[in-house]
Amino acid sequence: MKTHTVAELLNKDINALHEVEIKGWVRTFRANRFIALNDGSTLNNIQCVVDFENLDESLLKRITTGAAVHVFGELTESQGKGQKVEIQVSKISVLGDSDPETYPIQPKKHSFEFLRENAHLRTRTNTFSAVMRLRSSLSFAIHKYFNENGFYYMHTPIITGSDAEGAGEMFRVSALDAKNPPLNEEGEVDYKEDFFGKETNLTVSGQLEAETYAMSLGKVYTFGPTFRAENSNTSRHLAEFWMIEPEVAFMDLDGNMDLAEDFMKYVLKYVLEHNFEDLEFLNNRLLDEEKTKPQAERSDMNLIEKIKFVVENNFKRVSYTEAIDILKNSKPNKKKKFKYLINEWGADLQSEHERFLVEKHFKCPVILFDYPANIKAFYMRLNEDGKTVRAMDILFPGIGEMVGGSQREERLDVLKDKMKALDIDEKELWWYLDLRKYGTAVHSGFGLGFERLVMFATGMGNIRDVIPYPRTPQNAEF
Ligand code: 4AD
Ligand code: MG
Repeated sequence: MKTHTVAELLNKDINALHEVEIKGWVRTFRANRFIALNDGSTLNNIQCVVDFENLDESLLKRITTGAAVHVFGELTESQGKGQKVEIQVSKISVLGDSDPETYPIQPKKHSFEFLRENAHLRTRTNTFSAVMRLRSSLSFAIHKYFNENGFYYMHTPIITGSDAEGAGEMFRVSALDAKNPPLNEEGEVDYKEDFFGKETNLTVSGQLEAETYAMSLGKVYTFGPTFRAENSNTSRHLAEFWMIEPEVAFMDLDGNMDLAEDFMKYVLKYVLEHNFEDLEFLNNRLLDEEKTKPQAERSDMNLIEKIKFVVENNFKRVSYTEAIDILKNSKPNKKKKFKYLINEWGADLQSEHERFLVEKHFKCPVILFDYPANIKAFYMRLNEDGKTVRAMDILFPGIGEMVGGSQREERLDVLKDKMKALDIDEKELWWYLDLRKYGTAVHSGFGLGFERLVMFATGMGNIRDVIPYPRTPQNAEF
């Protein structure tokens, strides 16, 4: 007999009544008779009905919330409400006991903070199993999209010897003895004696390496972990997060915006079609949570409506200059409600401004482009005006910045001037400059923060709750 999953059994044609075998964890055990069994394959439990009079007293005692059990029985139409089918148990054994007194995941509502401390067990709850199934599905859809569109999946290095990207503070990678490191003549730590013979760090982005492959394979993407040692303890920042970075030769910024928009719509549509059950659960969870908020703070769309809205509507494309005008003349700016008031062109946008634009003004995802050169990275292509660059950020309601990308500077002299002005060592990026020497061409790409996408798709409010084991300042448990 084949062991089935709960998902398979719940979808089974009931006319095919027959013996089934299943393994899972007990969610609840009621009246010494009804076991709600879950194996992670679906949000739903299968009800297993035991005949306690035929069961050994000691076995009965071991069927407790959290225990792993092995069940044989007959799949029948359910008498009770709430489920189509159930299993009339003919044989049951407990594979592993669970101490009901200390098991953290009781059949009741737990706070997300509490569950974060029990992250190794939190996927035994409906909310976290739904979130993690969605996360898995989204990452599959991402690979599917790129595969169907002629992209090659490229693995960029995790340990990097260049720190020129400038995307954030880095974590050092070293094999030196921290207590007694070798020193050079100046009395500083001598990284020449370190494992790689130079200073190395964990990568903040695979972009620069992805550019090298785009300039030979044409269309590539990376999807891997990135690391930032910023001390930003917010609900949208992690020290270790996953980033999707496509990079395409001969594509300009308009093509980049089209790609990003098409890509995001595709993956969100994919989960609407393949994960509806989990989405519906998270939708209801969010509706309950909303009820506890004052009317003014409740959103006018539910989770599923928000996802559909993004899939079905065009993102609004707005230049930085237009955005500054809107912000300058906005109510919160005039009434001095912004913490950082917008007085002039050139100001860096804070999340309060981004949120105003997407949530209050446009009420849809917004692509901001052509930012001032001096608030963006060195590699972005300078516009003819000499003061803006071909950058784009995609801002999402409730999330803020979801994507950051640009058309890359392909002109060797312009790039060198820029690096000189920013004091970036040419010797360190010799290979990056080579791309501009040998067959240089227009090319573009972007980075999408995977966890921010998962936040949007699940409606979870804290980024710590959409990654299995969050890494944040002062926290690297598990
Ligand atoms: O805007 P960022 O810094 O862009 C880059 O790293 C470029 N090299 C990407 C490229 O063009 N290939 O980061 C890209 C995205 C952000 O828009 C955000 O969604 C996410 O990565 N992100 C973070 N997500 C979670 N925690 C953090 N600390 C993040 N920092 C950035
Ligand atoms: Mg950015």
